[in-house]
Order: sequence, then structure tokens, then C-alpha cells
Amino acid sequence: MSNLNVSNCSLLEVSECYIISVDFFIIPLLSAIWIMLPAYLPNPVAAVFGGGTPIDFGRNFTDGRRLLGDGKTYRGLIAGIVAGVAIGLLQIQAQAMYNLSFLPSHTLLSITLLAVGALLGDVCKSFFKRRYGKERGSKWPLADMYDLVIGAFVLLLIVDPSWLFGQVTLAAFILILILTPILHRATNIIGYLLKIKEVPW
Ligand code: CTP
Ligand code: MG
Repeated sequence: MSNLNVSNCSLLEVSECYIISVDFFIIPLLSAIWIMLPAYLPNPVAAVFGGGTPIDFGRNFTDGRRLLGDGKTYRGLIAGIVAGVAIGLLQIQAQAMYNLSFLPSHTLLSITLLAVGALLGDVCKSFFKRRYGKERGSKWPLADMYDLVIGAFVLLLIVDPSWLFGQVTLAAFILILILTPILHRATNIIGYLLKIKEVPW
């Protein structure tokens, strides 16, 4: 359908059209967002609704530092997973109602693995962050940005690899890697301005 874009371009314009063409950019971009919505939502929702009993119940690891820290709570974990699954259910509903066949198809399993994996990745990151002696809320640039992607994709790879390889194209995956730090930074700045987060990262 969208090869049209490329064929309409003159020779000089070809490279430019190629980049903005539907097949090569817009669809992978929309697909990346569509795939990741159930994984992106849990973190900000955990930040809004989190608090109360920490997942590690305040216990320390053998190194004398907290196992996970006060930034990882049951309320945040549950609220985040519920939100991720809820947005995923809306996406599945939308796909059934409208002709969205150009987007990857979510399943109940895929949205659950994305939401759970995103927050498991976040919890694992905090475990290692504490082992490196970094305080709760301190900056750990790459890990803080990619924990959710790693968690979500590792869980998909283990539990539902056929969905992963059937629905996530290489182009969409690369765009997820580019998009995630940008969205992460943007939401954290918004969260900080709204006084939901204590630090803008
Ligand atoms: N949060 C939560 N439960 C979770 C994840 C997050 O309650 N499972 C809340 C906490 O209030 C946390 C905030 O969301 O402070 C922001 O999350 P995040 O940046 O992941 O935590 P940090 O406070 O930075 O802690 P860490 O250094 O361990 O990443
Ligand atoms: Mg943080």
C-alpha cells in the first residue's frame, strides 16, 4: 500500500521519501508505541500510586544495604501492572473493533508479560543499583531507562517467543530502543514538574 510513497518521489527526493515513507518509518513507529504501551504505563502509574509497604519489607541484603529500597512498593507494583494490563485490554478491544491490522496484535498474554516484565525489570534494576551502593532515586542513566525494555523482552522471550518474533519487527525494535530514553526523560520531567517525582530523572 505504501510503496506508493517511494515510487512517487523523484530520484533526488528518494532518500528523503524513504525515511518518511509509511512502510519504513510511520508504521514501525506506531508499532513500537503500540507494542510498548502496556510496558510504558506501569512506571508512571507506580510513581503516582506507589507508597506504603516496600517489596523488601525494609530488609537488608548480605552487604548491609537494602535489598531493593523504599522506592519499590507493593502498591506501586500492583497499580502499575493493573494499569499496563488495562491499557492492553483497551488496545485488544480497539483492534477487534477497528481495522488496525497494520499494527502488531496484542494478546492477553503479551500485554500481561509486557506489564509484569516492565516492573520486574525495574525491581531487578533496583536490586543491582543497591549492590553498586547507589541510593534510592539516584541517577543510573542507562539502567534506569532500559530496565523496563529488558524486563519486558526477556519475559516475552522466555514465556511467549512466538508472539515476540511474530509481532515485533526489527525496525520496531530499533525504534523502541530509540524512543524509550526519550519518553523516559520526558515523563520524568513532567512527573517532577507535577511534584509526583522527587527528581527529574
Ligand atoms: N514506585 C513504587 N513501586 C514500584 C516502582 C515505583 O512505589 N514497584 C514508586 C516509588 O514511589 C518510586 C517512584 O515510583 O520512588 C519512582 O520510581 P523509580 O524511579 O523506579 O524509583 P526510585 O525512587 O528512583 O528508586 P530506585 O533508585 O530504586 O530506582
Ligand atoms: Mg528512579
